[in-house]
Order: sequence, then structure tokens, then C-alpha cells
Amino acid sequence: MDYTPLVMEHFENPRNVGVVENPDGVGMVGNPVCGDMMKISIKVADGKIADCKFKTLGCGAAIATSSMTTELAKGLTLDEGEKLTREQVAAALGGLPPEKMHCSNLAADGLHAAIKDYRSKQA
Ligand code: FES
Repeated sequence: MDYTPLVMEHFENPRNVGVVENPDGVGMVGNPVCGDMMKISIKVADGKIADCKFKTLGCGAAIATSSMTTELAKGLTLDEGEKLTREQVAAALGGLPPEKMHCSNLAADGLHAAIKDYRSKQA
């Protein structure tokens, strides 16, 4: 299977692993394709994602895409974060093998769930 150097780099040195302190929103999702799990936590300030971390029980592609998702998410408004797609995450990594595209759903879905959780707490 061919992974881009950037995928391998994020797999070897994942960014933002863990849980943010006193999270404002937490998203926990499972991948229906493989059963792997993802937890994304966010800190929100001034309507923007100030911090974002992940923990996954997932494959190498899930780790790399989660790492990239947390990097891309930081600084986005909540509306922008809700629109971040798995295609954007995969593109930022230079692409993913087609059979691993489902792995990038986890992080994007986790981020969306964390934002939803934050919004529900504000309501
Ligand atoms: Fe499950 Fe990649 S095989 S997330």
C-alpha cells in the first residue's frame, strides 16, 4: 500500500495526541466500516477552535488523518470546522489510498461531533 511521505510523517509523529484540559466539546465516534474508534476534544475561544486533540483506537491512516485534522481545525471558526471534510484532510496529506479513505471519516466525524457537543452545551 502506498502512503505519501506526509502520511508516514504524521503517523510517526502524530500531533495533538490526548485530551484538551477542561474540554468545551467532546466527540466520540466509531467507524462503521472497521469498528475503530475516535475521540476528539476541543477548546473554544471567541467562536474559534483554540485547541484540538485526539485519541484513537484506529489504524495508521486514522492516526495520520486525525493528526492532520487537529492541525487544520485549530484556528477555524465553528462553522468552518463543521464543514471540514475527509477529502480536505486527505488532500492536506497528499492523498490516501482509496481503500483507506474511510479512515479519514473518523477524525472529520469526531470533530463535527465535538462541535455539536459544544453547541448543545451552549443551547
Ligand atoms: Fe479503521 Fe482505518 S481501518 S480507521
